[in-house]
Amino acid sequence: MLKLPGFIDPHVHVREPGQTHKEDWDTVTQAALAGGVTTILAMPNTKPPIFDEATLNLALTAAKQKARCDYAQFLGAGPDNAVGDGSRRPLHEIADKAAGLKMYLDSTFGELRLDDMTLWMPHFINFPKSSPIVLHSESRTMAAGILFAAIYDRPVHIAHVSLKEEILLIKAAKEKGIKVTCEVCPHHLFLTSPSPLTPLPQGEGNHAANPTSPFGRGQGEGRLEVRPRLATQEDVDTLWANMDVIDCFATDHAPHTLEEKDSDNPPPGFPGLETLLPLLLTAVSESRLTIDDIIHKSVINPRKIFHLPEQPETWIEVDEDSKYEIKAANQFTRCGWTPFEGWQVKGRVRRVVLRGEVAFDDGKVLAEKGYGRNVRA
Ligand code: DOR
Ligand code: ZN
Repeated sequence: MLKLPGFIDPHVHVREPGQTHKEDWDTVTQAALAGGVTTILAMPNTKPPIFDEATLNLALTAAKQKARCDYAQFLGAGPDNAVGDGSRRPLHEIADKAAGLKMYLDSTFGELRLDDMTLWMPHFINFPKSSPIVLHSESRTMAAGILFAAIYDRPVHIAHVSLKEEILLIKAAKEKGIKVTCEVCPHHLFLTSPSPLTPLPQGEGNHAANPTSPFGRGQGEGRLEVRPRLATQEDVDTLWANMDVIDCFATDHAPHTLEEKDSDNPPPGFPGLETLLPLLLTAVSESRLTIDDIIHKSVINPRKIFHLPEQPETWIEVDEDSKYEIKAANQFTRCGWTPFEGWQVKGRVRRVVLRGEVAFDDGKVLAEKGYGRNVRA
């Protein structure tokens, strides 16, 4: 049995307030604990979005009642919330109550996209430099975001890096001393796009080699939708070759129901909290990663980047040799599916101890609703 620190997932879509048919603070924190994750940072693209003190309190009230693991909530950058008006405090005044500021600079699920760069400026100027700005920015938009970090001399964290051009530019920016960090999601490390333009090599550890996967069969195309999109084998290979440039693993756990994913207008996103650790440990068993890589990218670096407190008496116990098949039926997430259905993995979370209490044991969540703490409170 291997003992590891509790994982931090800096990128989770909780769906509460507003879309609790997909997930809520109860189910998402059960999924987190089952995945060995003891702290989650929640994204603001809920309904309504979390973009001021009132909506932040809405999310935090639900979290306080229901969360079973520790958490913090991001604020979302909008076109006019960097500065206050008579009825609303500016974001920088409530920054210390939040995980940080999330800026959506490219299209995805929700309504928070900021197109015009003049709308980015007041956020870069006003949001405290001690609090992280996380960018959803892809390709050239990411380059613009890194330029903003340089101009305003403040840290930015690039969410879900998926492309060769992105990881290579981040590497170059770090070499220049620009304050940029980044995260990569398991789905961008283990899956490639099945686009007909990029034929999939067979037996490469991706979905083409997994006959029970919903992918690669000309059906369930909506289940492939995710932002950033799944990329090519060359992109995936470049991410793996630049593991030292990757600061964090983040799931971008983005649950949508199967009915929604299989509809004519499928929303982008995959659940990921419960598959993170088995996928990473399987990579360790194949000598593609080390345990030390995992501890740095899932615990030490996210704690440093997001200024998170130590969790005393907190650890996870993992059976590295346990081999099994990933099955949505065994998951706690409400969405009821996983893009890794049928994958053979090696490495199972047996037990999670959170602040001295056994929170998960042998397939059962034992932490009560409301046990989770807001790490910014
Ligand atoms: O695929 C995605 N889904 N990417 C995002 O950036 C948002 C997320 C969601 O909220 O569903
Ligand atoms: Zn996301």
